[in-house]
Amino acid sequence: MAKLIGNNSLNVAVFISGRGSNLKNLIKFSKKKKCFINLNFVVSSNKNAKGLILAKNNGIKSIIFNYKNKSISEKKILKILNSNNIKLICLAGFMKILSNKFIKNFKGKIINIHPSLLPRYKGLNTHQRVINNKEKFTGCTVHYVSKKLDSGKIIIQKKIRIYKKDTVSILSKKVLRLEHQIYPKAIQKISNYL
Ligand code: GRF
Repeated sequence: MAKLIGNNSLNVAVFISGRGSNLKNLIKFSKKKKCFINLNFVVSSNKNAKGLILAKNNGIKSIIFNYKNKSISEKKILKILNSNNIKLICLAGFMKILSNKFIKNFKGKIINIHPSLLPRYKGLNTHQRVINNKEKFTGCTVHYVSKKLDSGKIIIQKKIRIYKKDTVSILSKKVLRLEHQIYPKAIQKISNYL
């Protein structure tokens, strides 16, 4: 990490589909003194994603792709990312599945945040499933994106205890707070390998 600190040299794109609280958190991180990332691109699969407003308000370029034709959308996105010299893609609530071809093109440079302790509870509705199974712990994971959903190498995880009174809504809030703690840490952790 040391070689990038203060250099502001890592161009990052964030892919979103909705609310964008992780995007907001990464923008905040990128604005910290001595931060080594330039968050200079947002890709959204949804034209109504709230995260797009955040991008606009922070002067970050954004582009919307509805992925109706995945192959065409991805080709265009790749072109844009390359011309903006993007070195890392952070998926943050991005609800589309990237093709193997796209992942290969950015091998080892796409990461995702997932609201469970992977490899357990891949996919959607994690909090409900965790509660239904009476788990004692849950958490979140930042991992590399590989061709199998939510299965790439784990970069960082954080765990919390589940209490009897925890509902889906309470757990999702608690886990989201953890997500905001670990996503910047994960970027720091891998920054030397990008
Ligand atoms: C987060 O819980 C993230 O782990 C999951 O989707 C949610 C996105 O939330 N992949 P936000 O749009 O970043 O607020």
